[in-house]
Amino acid sequence: MFKEYKLGGGSAAPSGETAPPPIPQPVVAPLTRAAIFIVVAINPGPDSRAALRSFCGDLSGLIRAVGFRDIEGGLSCVIGFGSEAWDALFGAPRPAELHPFREIRSGSRAAIATPGDILFHIRASRMDLCFELAAQIMERIGAFVSPVDEAQGFRYFDDRDLLGFVDGTENPVDAAAVEAALIGGEDADFTGGSYVIVQKYLHDMKAWNAIPTEMQELIVGRKKLSDVELDESVKPSWAHAALTIIEEGGKEIKILRANMPFGSPTQGEFGTYFIGYSRSPRTIEQMLENMFIGRPPGNYDKLLDVSRPVTGNLFFVPTATFLDNVADESAAAPEPAPAAPRTKNESLAIGSLKGEKRHE
Ligand code: HEM
Repeated sequence: MFKEYKLGGGSAAPSGETAPPPIPQPVVAPLTRAAIFIVVAINPGPDSRAALRSFCGDLSGLIRAVGFRDIEGGLSCVIGFGSEAWDALFGAPRPAELHPFREIRSGSRAAIATPGDILFHIRASRMDLCFELAAQIMERIGAFVSPVDEAQGFRYFDDRDLLGFVDGTENPVDAAAVEAALIGGEDADFTGGSYVIVQKYLHDMKAWNAIPTEMQELIVGRKKLSDVELDESVKPSWAHAALTIIEEGGKEIKILRANMPFGSPTQGEFGTYFIGYSRSPRTIEQMLENMFIGRPPGNYDKLLDVSRPVTGNLFFVPTATFLDNVADESAAAPEPAPAAPRTKNESLAIGSLKGEKRHE
């Protein structure tokens, strides 16, 4: 279906051109002990846009400065841009499949779309490194953005989610992760880029803990203690690990997840921050349809009886090469054409999500 993308390998440039292949952002990074997820909205006005464009070129230096203080800490940061933010900051060309997050509603289940222009996905083996980088980023851009959401994720025992199941086992690794997450030749201007969907889920732990372990295992599709996949003869078609299998032409299309637990016991908040990278948002959208509507309709994911997303965003992750070049072009950048009026979902000038009316 897709052309292969080789890290540091063959160039995506048309034959005859000698440009080296663009360097991706560290989308394909190993799971870490700590992560911070930040979503911000761009403040209106040309100053904000100019400042953010210039920040794009400085981000790699900032990551180096913080990361070098503990090189074993494996600090990394991925930045992504929402559909309207892309137009406001960079204009044409735009990534072929970039659009606002598409809401899905079915019965009492809702994958809602929430505001947000820029995502920072910061990962390291130590929370202090993540925290320091987040602080440095906000120091640099705080005057030009409004915070929308922040979650601090942590590793919970052996990579378990707060529901007690190991999360991430079937993630592709190495070349398969690159194949799943990074755009190849199908969108030549954006080879090495990626799409990322984030959703912040809150769990009803009381309801979940009331479900017998055997039933929980059917809901997830794996054994709780050993993490072994249930045999096909017993795994229901509504199991989470069945509804999220996508096949095209007999081939399984994978995505790359870097989910993290987060929460606040005193507030009764227990959550999973879902973050999925893919070379096409369509794959994750299909998984969401299967989970929320059901495959076939009605045969939905029972995890959603005890978990509800309170955010939903789609971002595009350009290459590191693209980010470095934005700064060079900023000086000569023309004022962007006025964008189409924003829907309530996509407002650039919003504050906290708290108390906000959900979208119809
Ligand atoms: C409440 C939020 C979620 C929780 C707690 C959760 C948890 C899990 C767990 C425990 C597994 C089995 C182990 C593994 O292979 O990782 C799994 C698998 C998987 N999940 Fe989720 N997940 C959540 C949301 C999502 C969403 C929103 C998507 C995609 C839209 C998704 C896509 C997948 C995929 C692709 C697999 C691997 C299936 C396979 O190849 O066997 N998950 N998830």
